[in-house]
Amino acid sequence: MGDYDVAIRGGTVVTASDVMQCDIGIRDGRIAALADRITGAASEIDATGLLVMPGGIDSHVHLCQNSPGIRMADDFVTGSMAAVAGGNTTIIPFATQPRGASLRDSVTQYQKLAEGNCIADYGIHLIITDPTPSILGQELPALVADGYTSFKVFMTYDEMVLNDRQLLDVFDVARREKALVMVHCEGYDSIKFMTERLEAAGRTAPYYHGKSRPELVEREAAHRAISHAELVDVPIMIVHVSGRQAMEQIRWAQQRGLKVYGETCPQYISLTEEDMKGNNCDETGGKYVCSPPPRDRDGWDAIWEGLRTGVFQTFSSDHCPFIYDSAEGKLNPKGKQSFRYVPNGIPGVETRLPILFSEGVSKGRITLEQFVALTSTNHAKIYGLYPQKGSIAVGADADLVLWDANRTVTISQSLLHHGSDYTPWEGYEVTGWPVKTILRGDVVYDDGKVVGKPGGGRFLKRALSPYAVPNGAD
Ligand code: URP
Ligand code: ZN
Ligand code: ZN
Repeated sequence: MGDYDVAIRGGTVVTASDVMQCDIGIRDGRIAALADRITGAASEIDATGLLVMPGGIDSHVHLCQNSPGIRMADDFVTGSMAAVAGGNTTIIPFATQPRGASLRDSVTQYQKLAEGNCIADYGIHLIITDPTPSILGQELPALVADGYTSFKVFMTYDEMVLNDRQLLDVFDVARREKALVMVHCEGYDSIKFMTERLEAAGRTAPYYHGKSRPELVEREAAHRAISHAELVDVPIMIVHVSGRQAMEQIRWAQQRGLKVYGETCPQYISLTEEDMKGNNCDETGGKYVCSPPPRDRDGWDAIWEGLRTGVFQTFSSDHCPFIYDSAEGKLNPKGKQSFRYVPNGIPGVETRLPILFSEGVSKGRITLEQFVALTSTNHAKIYGLYPQKGSIAVGADADLVLWDANRTVTISQSLLHHGSDYTPWEGYEVTGWPVKTILRGDVVYDDGKVVGKPGGGRFLKRALSPYAVPNGAD
């Protein structure tokens, strides 16, 4: 018996800072050694010709988030199957507080859905829709202490939207508790105004979803969120940034020294509003309906600018899967009447890494190290999981993806493991594909097959984020 349970041999190891040729020794689920040559392990994995990177961390994933009449396509089993098949080892989905409900009860119920079902390790963010004094004064601080150290707030959606005063109150509590706030920046009233105008003109096809929330609606909300954050002196993460205008708001804030972070997603470098036309402006465009909506090619350029220059720290999927052909999905009866009832969201946890690798690394737009930072390391650092997760270092969890940088794959629904009945990237060609995903030393995905078991993933109680420390002292 050697010193190690597993040795990963002969690969090119990539971290957010280095690319090196070395073997990795794994003991008790952790990385125990990085060395020129490791022999005598109980088992060996040959990584010759492959990249060995930290397992992907997708810090923006929606699972089991049903709403009246609408069913999400993924639960923790199928969602985490898709995650590991896409090279991820950790996901962070959201526990939503319905209005009027206890946040703690919402988290407890959500935890029950995850327990025994998740194949990947998982943390949980909170979604706050009803920031009452008792939620902000008691429940939220207790949950932060229990490892739920980040929460999302919405500036739109009837069931979620917070007004400006509520945003300020939540930001203030985040500052006090040193939690990180994620903000969905789109202006509620502007969207409502545009939606009613479009509907009155008979423009109800999914394509008009994009027209109901143009970039300036996102820009205005981003500016408002940034201003509120500056007033309170609290760091914020602006999630799912779709194009130039919101990117420029974040860059402007960063240049002024504010701790405003940015997240973007595959849809904003690979889809456009034209996709929502479907076939001649028909209902198939609903497959691409998400918020903020896909923009245009100038938007792609702006997102690349932000990815290359560090405006964005994280590249997440915003995986939010629905069945297309279902009365509880995209084609629900009301959704056929108007875009406003088409559930917002697309599946993407399984295709996030291949799309960024292919468009970014294979096409020379970003380095390998940037790829690792954007897909894993920065997520761990920002959401309180580092150094346990997000790196290849002695003592870290042995969460790895073995990656074939030269494999060209045409993305197709038939290859994927998610619960949706379609992928928005059907027929999209990528170069770079995961070969094996390893969670704490165990192979959970092996070249096309998910071999991890539901319940193999552990809940991650997250530390306070160093990124949530305010600029000023108290
Ligand atoms: O359309 C989207 N992105 N739906 C998911 C919910 C959200 O706002 O992130
Ligand atoms: Zn959102
Ligand atoms: Zn989302």
